[in-house]
Formats: sequence, structure tokens, C-alpha cells
Amino acid sequence: MKPLDPIAYDYSGLIAPKDAPRFVRQTGLVDADLRWLAPRLAGARQEVLDNLALYERGIQPPEDKQPLDAAFFDLPERLLDEDRPLMERIVAVGDRMAKEVDRVVILGIGGSYMGARALFESCCHPYHNELSRQRRGGRPKIYFAGNNVDNDSTQGLLDLSEGSDDWGIIVISKSGTTLETAVAFRLFLDSLRKACGGDDEKLRNRVIAITGETGGLRELAESIGCRDIFPIPDGVGGRYSVLCAVGLLPAAVMGLDVSHLLEGAAAINQRFRTAPPLENPALDYAGLSRLMETRRGESIRVLSVWANGLEAVGLWYDQLLAESLGKNGWGPTPLTVLNTRDLHSRGQQHQEGRRDKLITNIVVEQTHREWLAIEPSDFDQDNLNALSGKTLPDILRAAYAGVNQAYAEDYRRTATITLPRLDEGSLGQLFQMLMLATVVEGRLVGINPYGQPGVEAYKKHMNAILRGK
Ligand code: PA5
Repeated sequence: MKPLDPIAYDYSGLIAPKDAPRFVRQTGLVDADLRWLAPRLAGARQEVLDNLALYERGIQPPEDKQPLDAAFFDLPERLLDEDRPLMERIVAVGDRMAKEVDRVVILGIGGSYMGARALFESCCHPYHNELSRQRRGGRPKIYFAGNNVDNDSTQGLLDLSEGSDDWGIIVISKSGTTLETAVAFRLFLDSLRKACGGDDEKLRNRVIAITGETGGLRELAESIGCRDIFPIPDGVGGRYSVLCAVGLLPAAVMGLDVSHLLEGAAAINQRFRTAPPLENPALDYAGLSRLMETRRGESIRVLSVWANGLEAVGLWYDQLLAESLGKNGWGPTPLTVLNTRDLHSRGQQHQEGRRDKLITNIVVEQTHREWLAIEPSDFDQDNLNALSGKTLPDILRAAYAGVNQAYAEDYRRTATITLPRLDEGSLGQLFQMLMLATVVEGRLVGINPYGQPGVEAYKKHMNAILRGK
């Protein structure tokens, strides 16, 4: 069994020292703020749990709570327990597809895309698609499309598959009507159909659909006769769907440990239910971030990730926060930065710009690979012999400590989420922590974190322009 070490949220950097001068105390939070916050967090947690109970009993929520897509909460426990056969089927189908093809194109956008991408980038080999099949653990190459309407990149991906039937499609859309996904599916399906040369049985095996119980995509998949169609459960919104087939089937094709992912998420649920406020990562992240906004004006939430593999997790979170809370003329602005890369682009502004940014670091304690070290060299024009023996993690840690010290010296406060390692267990915890925190924050401020009515406006106009209606 893989280890499941807990992730941690450390907000001590947001607290101003007790004996500091008044102007310093005004840059952070003080004990009185935490005392004020704790009962409110307990209340928001109770509201989230009550909403879940309402949902599970099938009781219609009051109008201001609709939609109430609370069913994401206990997906992990259900899939590990009473819905285990579904989880096992997801894994078996993922393994089947992995065996049958050398390339899988995953089509979807928004919540039907970003979780799978985050899992791919964080848990697979960083150059997965460049490796031999054997070094990929017998897994196919993975590509994403349908998450934009870019002509040349779509053509580019179609080029890769030309003349070969050694590939498959996973198409994901809850509504089954999203134009970007539907157009990409039409193009890739045509290409695959031609490659299969009239072998309908092959085509049926090569296309897997993940969609709602009704809608255009379901009808299309049924009429092709797709062997496997997975439902997206009712009550699970797109950006909260990474821990159902939407994220789990791509993860299974990649060869990831789906149970470990779910166990991580279930561990966070357990902490969410039982740990007191101020010792509870999901609650605390929501509450402390909110306080830094209301009391200190920090409305830009910078997720500062310290591993390349976490950048797509940051983008997944950008969507989660923006679509959930960006409503009624309110909502924090998410921004993902990857360090040290972005210290050379955004660093100046974060150090000396407007004091409207809350920086939350995400660091990873252990690397998967041995640490690369600087070796002494006869050519020391770069002055690196003085650092010989230092490793890449040493340099990264120095940069992390250095930049946080520099922020602190200018009274710019930071918090940190620590992951034991980049693996399924940590990712399951992080996904669930951030989804719960987003819902908690919505409840704290009275904004429904589910639904995204604003996104419909562009769709309406786009369709009118295209269809002349
Ligand atoms: O969070 C959401 O619900 C959205 O981001 C959707 O995931 C996105 O719009 C794609 O929708 P669908 O899965 O219906 O194609």
C-alpha cells in the first residue's frame, strides 16, 4: 500500500507578531482576527454538511442555494465503498484502452478537461509522450484537445494520427452540448472512423464517452454503439468532477493509482468533518484567505507553485475559484505562478507592486528522482565551483526561503501548502481541500459556489453569430 502522508496548510506567515509596532500588525492578522474567524468557520462547515444532507435526502434547497451540486463531497468514500464496482469498472476500461492503443486523445473543456490535465502533469513522467512504450509502463501517449478552437494545433494533432488506427478517443462533456468539445469530437471521430476503415466493432471500442444521462453526446455515443459510456453523476458540477469518471478514467488510462487518489480525498473529508477550525486545512485556507482580503485588501489569490508538475493543478484551481466565486460583482482573482520561472517575470511586481496579492505557496517535500548536484569543473567561468555539491532541490529551497524572506521583510505575508510528494495521494488531498475551501468561502460570503450563469452569455452570443439566430 502506498503511503498517505497528510498535506499541511501553514498560515503562520499571515499572522503579525504580537509585539510588533502597530503599522506592522496592520499588514497581517492578529489573535483577535482568529478568534473572530473560528466560530464562523465552524458555522460554514455546518452549512456545507447540512447542504450535503439536504442533497442526499433529495430535499429541494431554497432558491438562493440552487443549483446545489453538493454530491462531489462524498464521491471518494462512495467510490471506495458502495460504488466500488463502478471504480473497478473505470480502472478496467482504462486498462483495456491502454492495452489496445498507443495514443489517446482526451476531448473536453473547463471542468471536463483541467483535472485530467492536472493529473497527467503532476503524476506522470514529465516527458511521458517522448518515452518508449516500455518506459511508459505500457501506457499510451496522452493528448488533450477540444479545450480551445485553435485551427493549427487541432490540425497538428490530427496529423499525428493520420493513416493509423492505433489510437482512441475519450470525450468528456457533462451537458453534451459544449460547442468546443462537440466540434473537436466530430473532427477526431471522422479521422478515427476513416482509420478504422469500416470496422465498426473497432470504432466502438476506441471511443469512450463520459457525459450526463441525457444530451447530444450521450445520443451520439449510443448511436455509434460505444462499448463504454460513463455517467457524470447528478449533483456533481463540472469543476467539482475530477474525482468521478471525468478525472478517474483518464487517470486509469495513464496507469495512475485511482484508489490512492480517492483515499487522499477521503482523508481530507475526514479532517474537514472532525478537525477544529484553525487546525483544518480546507476551512483554514478559505477563512484565512478571505480575512486577508477583507482586512488587508488582498483580493488577488496567487497560487505560487514550486514544481513544474503543479502548474496545471494551479490552472485547475484558477477555474475552480473564478467560476465558483466570481459572481454578483464580487470574487477573488486567481493567478497561478510557477517558481522559480515566474520570479523572473512577475517577481518584481509581487515584491514591490500593489499590496493586493495573497501569495500561497505550494511546495513538495520529496522528489521522485535522486537529487542532481553541481559537480566541480575545470571551466569555472560561471563561478559555480563555489556551489559544487549543491543540488537542484537545495537551490529551489534557497529560492523559496529567499523570496519568502524578502516578502516578509517588506511585510508581505505568505502562507504555504506542503505536499509530501507529487503522487496520487497528495493530489487527491489537494483537490478535495481546494474544492471544499471554495464551497466554504462561498457559504461564508453568501455566494452560491455552484453553477456558472455568466458563462452562458458568451455561448448565447457565439451561437447566435454562428447560426444566425
Ligand atoms: O465547471 C463547469 O461546469 C464548467 O467549467 C464546465 O465543466 C465546462 O463548461 C464544460 O462543460 P461540459 O462538461 O458540459 O462540456
